[in-house]
Amino acid sequence: MQTIIRPTELRARVTAWRREGVSTALVPTMGNLHAGHAKLVKRARVSADRVVVSIFVNPTQFGVNEDFAQYPRTPVEDAQLLSELGVDVLFMPEVADMYSAQQATSVRVVKLSEHLCGEFRPGHFEGVATIVTKLFNVVQPDLALFGEKDFQQLAIIRRLVADLFIPVQILGIPTEREEDGLAMSSRNRYLSVEQRQLAPALHETLRHVSEAIKGGSRDFKAHESSALQALKRSGFVPDYVSIRDADNLEPPTDQSRELVVLAAARLGKTRLIDNLRVPIA
Ligand code: PAF
Repeated sequence: MQTIIRPTELRARVTAWRREGVSTALVPTMGNLHAGHAKLVKRARVSADRVVVSIFVNPTQFGVNEDFAQYPRTPVEDAQLLSELGVDVLFMPEVADMYSAQQATSVRVVKLSEHLCGEFRPGHFEGVATIVTKLFNVVQPDLALFGEKDFQQLAIIRRLVADLFIPVQILGIPTEREEDGLAMSSRNRYLSVEQRQLAPALHETLRHVSEAIKGGSRDFKAHESSALQALKRSGFVPDYVSIRDADNLEPPTDQSRELVVLAAARLGKTRLIDNLRVPIA
């Protein structure tokens, strides 16, 4: 595995691959890799000839009071794992490589970025959309893979790719979970032992809502509010629980074919997100 720091060098590498007629998959990450990331990389490995993984803790997607400085950085362990997974290139740019002092452009996906997590993390999705667009332009991959745990992020990336005619196929990969149902996340390591015991209640709560919908109930407001209460009883401070159309993240309509139950909730200082898709006939 080759580690590349400079965007120009990476661009040259991928251009050479393209001349050879091989396809490239990109897995964008912020590092501190876990089994969820490994699943994305393994899928990339079988879907393209070459795999690039980026590790970049992107400052523009963190709010002023968020955890940019504390975000876990484990480059040695990450590189070891990626090399074992057969990754061709690890791209680890510095902040100055991705954002020049003159940077004046950013990518904002309106509407989709403003509700759900966007309401509680103003500017977050603009930071995500901007860095993902930059990564797409540097790597020019045929395929890019993202986890479905960040369901709203995935929807925003699909939208920006369509709106900006970016020639990349986006693949969403189902959430990897711990045995007790907790969605894998780099932020899980912030949890104390006691909080870690409480954390699976987030998935459990979503599961209850999903089962009720599968059972035919359509009183979405009632399910959202009882899920909020359940999370509070379990020790969370919830930001939201919301049932949406999985295609566009709008409130469900009679035309909706698949719903998604999304939630964000805090345990102490740690903000966890999760979602469950619910097909409806
Ligand atoms: O999901 C993440 O890890 C990040 O938001 C991403 C997509 C790598 C952009 O920084």
